[in-house]
Amino acid sequence: MNQRIEQYSKEIETFVITNQQELEAYRIQFLSKKGLLPELFLQFKALSNEDKKIAGILLNNLKNKASEKYETFKLTLDQSEKTLLQDLTLPADSIPQGSRHPVSLIRKEIISIFSKIGFTIAEGPEIEDDWHVFSGLNFPSEHPARDMQDTFFIKKNPDILLRTHTSSVQVRVMESQQPPIRKIFPGRVFRNEAISARAHCIFHQIEGLYINENVSFSDLKQTLLFFAREMFGEKTQIRLRPSYFPFTEPSAELDVSCTICGGTGCNVCKYTGYLEILGCGMVDPNVLDASGISSEKFTGFAFGMGLERIAMLKYQVNDLRLYFENDTRFLRQFGSAY
Ligand code: DAH
Repeated sequence: MNQRIEQYSKEIETFVITNQQELEAYRIQFLSKKGLLPELFLQFKALSNEDKKIAGILLNNLKNKASEKYETFKLTLDQSEKTLLQDLTLPADSIPQGSRHPVSLIRKEIISIFSKIGFTIAEGPEIEDDWHVFSGLNFPSEHPARDMQDTFFIKKNPDILLRTHTSSVQVRVMESQQPPIRKIFPGRVFRNEAISARAHCIFHQIEGLYINENVSFSDLKQTLLFFAREMFGEKTQIRLRPSYFPFTEPSAELDVSCTICGGTGCNVCKYTGYLEILGCGMVDPNVLDASGISSEKFTGFAFGMGLERIAMLKYQVNDLRLYFENDTRFLRQFGSAY
């Protein structure tokens, strides 16, 4: 008995384990129910009490040695297997990507629609003077039309103000180039309004301007129809309602058939079947002349729309404040790859 214990002890020591198969072979040979060690324990039972004293100690030591070797190798093999499963040449885990703000998505889409029909982009300053925001656009001083837009003035110099609309960029462009002019002007605008679900002191607009010889109201209508169908779907209908803006004559507001019910009437369009999306009109001859463009020779149209308004219709998000709080739970819903 003692000899066999010694022999197995050596065998256990020299047994080579380099992989899971060899580990399993080791387990079967020494530790499994039909292995060598359980067999020794059976033989042990048959020994005399005297012989059991020494053999018992030796046998227990042998068993501990055998299981310790097994556990140690199992642990190292399991760990190295895990590292092997990882392909170290793989790129690192990707960092969650941000998403574009809904207003940026809308701006991008509008720019791409108008670029298809030859409009390019121009930008102007957010801090403006009275001429570019009002006077150059045919708002006479003290004219009540100035009250339509509550303006942030710079106290020390009432001639300096935050632009209330991107129409100011029309004036800058007309002053600096002669027709043909076919441009859109995206940008931020500011109005002194209390913040609520329906109004904000900062928002975004895109203005459009086309000036050339023989531009007519039907060109305006066709351009807006193209835009509406690209933006809201090819079944979209448009409707122009007479309106008033100091810088256009005639002026109109553009409605599109309701993006929710398609025109049959629902609570979004208040059962009218239509939603208002922008202001537009033929550039007033006074505006052309004030900027050095001959109203004898040229005519043009202009339009202006609020991006948050379009985003609200497109995404059905009806509280303006959400567009400015930058709550990531809101923004994440507009996940985009670019
Ligand atoms: N500037 C106007 C506004 O902020 C929008 C607008 C109306 C722009 C008519 C235009 C236009 O170019 O022709 O409410």
